[in-house]
Amino acid sequence: MFAKSALLAAVLVAPFALAVPSPTKTAKRATCTVDSVAAAADLSDCSDVVISSFTVENNGASVIPPYDALNILLISTHSSETVTMNFAQGATVTMSGEVTFASTVASGPLITFEGSDVSFNGGGFSFNGNGAYYWDGQGTNGGKPKPHPFMKLKASGTFENFVVLNSPAQAISVGNDEPLTITQVYVNNLAGNVDNLGHNTDGFDVSASDVTITNCIVQNQDDCIAINAGNNIVFSNNICSFGHGMSIGSISSGKTVSGVIFSDNFVSESMYGTRIKVDSDATSGSVSNVTWSGNTITGITSYGVLITQSYPDNDSAPGNDTIISDVNFVGLPTEVSVNSDAYRITVDCGNCTGTWDWSGLIATGGETSNVDPDQATIQGGYY
Ligand SMILES: *[C@@H]1O[C@H](CO)[C@@H](O)[C@H](O)[C@H]1NC(C)=O
Ligand SMILES: *[C@@H]1O[C@H](CO)[C@@H](O)[C@H](O)[C@H]1NC(C)=O
Ligand SMILES: *[C@@H]1O[C@H](CO)[C@@H](O)[C@H](O)[C@H]1NC(C)=O
Ligand SMILES: *[C@@H]1O[C@H](CO)[C@@H](O)[C@H](O)[C@H]1NC(C)=O
Repeated sequence: MFAKSALLAAVLVAPFALAVPSPTKTAKRATCTVDSVAAAADLSDCSDVVISSFTVENNGASVIPPYDALNILLISTHSSETVTMNFAQGATVTMSGEVTFASTVASGPLITFEGSDVSFNGGGFSFNGNGAYYWDGQGTNGGKPKPHPFMKLKASGTFENFVVLNSPAQAISVGNDEPLTITQVYVNNLAGNVDNLGHNTDGFDVSASDVTITNCIVQNQDDCIAINAGNNIVFSNNICSFGHGMSIGSISSGKTVSGVIFSDNFVSESMYGTRIKVDSDATSGSVSNVTWSGNTITGITSYGVLITQSYPDNDSAPGNDTIISDVNFVGLPTEVSVNSDAYRITVDCGNCTGTWDWSGLIATGGETSNVDPDQATIQGGYY
């Protein structure tokens, strides 16, 4: 009791201690430490930010009796469901510990990064989404509500060297409006493989332009990357396992994707290797200028390469109002090997155009399938 009163007194005294005349406002503070949700609130003066270990609590946390000032102060500074860090332009950000998210009823994103020209290096530390609390095999289609996405990158610059661990559903949503590079990020949803409980745990969902994702690892139960809109997107030297491979789409009405390069990636033990999926009812969108080179795709259980305008079906009655054009496998070969009861290559077009150079495709194993490129012409390739 005495100690608590003394602490309360200290808290109340603190403002007076700070009430000395402040010196002329200098430029940015050298370093700011984020060790709580509250400390993340205003980083506009911080040229350097250190994120240290803290837990993001569920807002459902209640004030514990007695309802005194200190208790309320402590609760209000420690409980919140989501966190947003808006970094100053050009800020350098590092981590010195793990950020953990309590099980929450918030809808996500649970953590959002904003700012331009940011240099973020996580030092290998994790953002822990506590996925096992939510996983029930139903993903975002039902069951327990799952906050998604777990992380939103609205920032530009470089984000590197951190782990996104056990996301409730979709892991990282990419929505920058200036160039962004993501490298050495490990989306570790391996624990979701147990009893097939993890579902819809996409690694990267991209609706943005000028994005490079390179040297990352994704172990999950849905798309490694899903590109829903944008242009000038490079996905290179990544490792994808257990999920649904490298995807463009699904493309809904009015969405366009162009200028995508998938190079030197390794996809294994996945349902699909790589896909372009256009919603069967999508109108006035387009997918164009997609290039694969030097990828290794192995251990595919359903479809090695699937290009379809029938989504959500894999291969049925394609729509015809969103054009797919200029889809090429060139340069270093992309090698696709599928399991014995899987399809190597499926093309299900209702409106595809152009001459597609598939000279850099070698697909083996499994079964042949429907290859209907509509108006497009496919040249070369071994499949
Ligand atoms: C295709 O995309 C690549 C990569 O973004 C880009 O360099 C190239 O200029 C594009 N080609 C066309 C014809 O738009
Ligand atoms: C597409 O194929 C996958 C893998 O075989 C399967 O799980 C899924 O149900 C199929 N989708 C539809 C809509 O039939
Ligand atoms: C496009 O699909 C619609 C709906 O299925 C159909 O009515 C129409 O005839 C198709 N257009 C062409 C040019 O095939
Ligand atoms: C293909 O899609 C374009 C753009 O939506 C549309 O103008 C065109 O009529 C479609 N072609 C066919 C054969 O359906």
